[in-house]
Amino acid sequence: PQKIIIDTDPGQDDALAILLALGSPAEIEVLGIVAVGGNVPLAATSRNVRVVLELAGRTDIPVFEGHSGPMVRTLATAEHVHGATGLDGADLPEPTMPVQAQHGVDFIIETLRREPAGTVTLCTLGPMTDVAQAFRRAPDIIARVKRVVLMGGAYFEVGNITPAAEFNIWVDPEAAKVVFDSGVPLTVLPLDVTHKALTTRPRVQRFRDMGTRLGDAVAGWLDFFERFDTAKYGSDGGPLHDPCVIAWLIQPDLFTGRDINVEIEVQSELTRGMTVADWWRVSGRAPNALFLGDVDADGFYALLTERIGTL
Ligand code: BDR
Ligand code: CA
Repeated sequence: PQKIIIDTDPGQDDALAILLALGSPAEIEVLGIVAVGGNVPLAATSRNVRVVLELAGRTDIPVFEGHSGPMVRTLATAEHVHGATGLDGADLPEPTMPVQAQHGVDFIIETLRREPAGTVTLCTLGPMTDVAQAFRRAPDIIARVKRVVLMGGAYFEVGNITPAAEFNIWVDPEAAKVVFDSGVPLTVLPLDVTHKALTTRPRVQRFRDMGTRLGDAVAGWLDFFERFDTAKYGSDGGPLHDPCVIAWLIQPDLFTGRDINVEIEVQSELTRGMTVADWWRVSGRAPNALFLGDVDADGFYALLTERIGTL
């Protein structure tokens, strides 16, 4: 299996991404999970990671806390999307499993130095603060990373937090810029993909039909998440973002995209955090990312229900 570290800010969709990884042991080995401030403050995202691991019975996976906020800006959160806890929609017990004492960034650095070069993939499901700080503090690890696979950005679908930007990149654009400029192999799952992976009623119902506590929790989360997004986008269900990162690792042929140059806007306030994606290759700048644009949504949901159904 591919070894991964997940850096995340749960978030209902982050929770599903974690569950998809845990349900796919043949393809994925989760070395550890780092919580970062994002959708809700760090104390809540750290709690939520542990809620999800306890729900899945996987308290053997170490949980770390990373940065509570962006590199230079003030943290902006998204309770309007995810609810006050960040995981509204399911009633689950307070977690009792511990958080590791080591800082999440130290865990990332130490793991990349310990594991053979080119074997560890970093998956970011929230602001990219921790990975950027790890790259700044320990530039030697950049060449050892197999790939960074991230949910963030947008091209044709443009923005969801401002007209120009997607939330994860907008929250900490300086961090995203460090990673996009680092030369590390990158795969980007932007809104262009996630807005094609809609949480329609029948798709949510399949989780409820599992008849398990876990299936009920997932359906509850998606109902909550969808309620907001359906009103916002007027579509048949809301976009499901972060599980696309894990799905790409398991079944990349569900997705299509292009190797292109992507630059991050950090100067302008109007377009802060915009992913300037050279989709038509007009800039002459060298490609630095596999930027995905489309997904087989039925195939994606089939994978998600099959794998989460095993937990
Ligand atoms: C991203 O922002 C968060 O609200 C979601 O968890 C996802 O990672 C979508 O823009
Ligand atoms: Ca997220």
